[in-house]
Parts: sequence; structure tokens; C-alpha cells
Amino acid sequence: MSTISIIYFTGSGHTAKLAEAVTQGAASVAGVQTHLIAISGDDIVKGRYENAAVLAQLDASDAIIFGSPTYMGGPAAQFKAFADATGGRWYTSAWRDKLAAGFTVSSGPSGDKLSTLHYFFTLAMQHGMIWVGFPENPMNDKGINRLSSYSGVMAQAGQEPVDVAPNAADKLTGELLGQRVAKLTQKLKG
Ligand SMILES: Cc1cc2nc3c(=O)[nH]c(=O)nc-3n(C[C@H](O)[C@H](O)[C@H](O)COP(=O)(O)O)c2cc1C
Repeated sequence: MSTISIIYFTGSGHTAKLAEAVTQGAASVAGVQTHLIAISGDDIVKGRYENAAVLAQLDASDAIIFGSPTYMGGPAAQFKAFADATGGRWYTSAWRDKLAAGFTVSSGPSGDKLSTLHYFFTLAMQHGMIWVGFPENPMNDKGINRLSSYSGVMAQAGQEPVDVAPNAADKLTGELLGQRVAKLTQKLKG
């Protein structure tokens, strides 16, 4: 049995929808259990993220998938507060050789989303994790990877209600990322 955790922040619910799709994709692979974890602003006290149970859940995972909206050209401050709280794990190499991947939502087709994915990548590399990209060809009739991102999944949503954005194509793209991470985790575990 492999354990995959999807940890994300959402301000107005769009990234939560994508996180659910990623989780659904991971959970569709036999022998995989998933944990969908929202970063709560209530866990940030005087600027510091504190939630021992969440961090313990991540310690116990074989793969961690990071998610955040892109705010001002990078991950949301709440995600960064969480990331900073993983510093102790960096010190002990606790997350070395876990698989990692990421997804982000923003209103522009680009909107500087790549900066957010690059931050997730850097965080994963600092932890000695193994980054899983997203090699789906955007030339398909389902809109899979329509924003042509190979470093991780990008989705688009602005002020629209969360039941319409991210759209079905972006959610399918997220689902496929979850599935890819799950299959690779199973393969790596033998
Ligand atoms: C403070 C703030 C900063 C934002 N910065 C960007 C940005 O840099 N690029 C962009 O395309 N959209 C930007 N947006 C739009 C959000 O990324 C977009 O609405 C996203 O769907 C929000 O996700 P959420 O509902 O999970 O919070 C910003 C929104 C907010 C509130």
C-alpha cells in the first residue's frame, strides 16, 4: 500500500477543486491511499505555520503533491508559511526520496504560474525528493494540458464560481497528474 498526500492552500475554492481532482486520480490506482490536506490560515500563528498532525501525516507519505493558487506571481503566503515549517524535516533529510509533484491555479493563461511550480520544485529539491513532471501532449481533443505545462499542472480560474472553474479539461489534467504520481509511487515501491 502506498500513501499519497495532497497538501494545498486555497483562498476562494478554485485550487480546492483542482486538489480534489488530483486526489481522485491518485485514488484510482489500486493499492494507493490518499490524504487530501488543506492548509488552514488558522494554523498560522504570528506568521508561523504550526500543525504537528499535518506534518506527521506528510512524514508517513510516500509521495507529496503540493498545490497553491498563484498569488502575485508565486505561491500564496499561507503555502510558504507551511513550506517554512518543513525546515526541520530538511535538517534531518526526513523527506528524502519521497516523490513530489505540484499544481497551481491562476486567472491568466500564464499569470506567472510557472514561478509557483518552480517554487514547489525547489522546495522538493531542498528536501531531496524526486520531482514528477507532467509529460502529457497538449495536442488532444479533451483539453488535457491545454496550458502546455510540463513541470506540473496549471489550471485557470478567476472570479468564476468554483463549479465552473477550473473547467473540466483542467480537472482532468489534475486527475492525470494524481494518477501518474500514484503509478510511479507503486512502481518505486516494487
Ligand atoms: C492576492 C491575489 C494575487 C493574485 N495574483 C495572481 C497572479 O499573479 N497571476 C494570476 O494569473 N492570477 C492571480 N490572482 C488570481 C488567482 O490566482 C485566481 O483567482 C485563483 O483562481 C485563486 O485560487 P483560489 O480560489 O484557490 O484562491 C491573484 C489573486 C489574488 C487574490
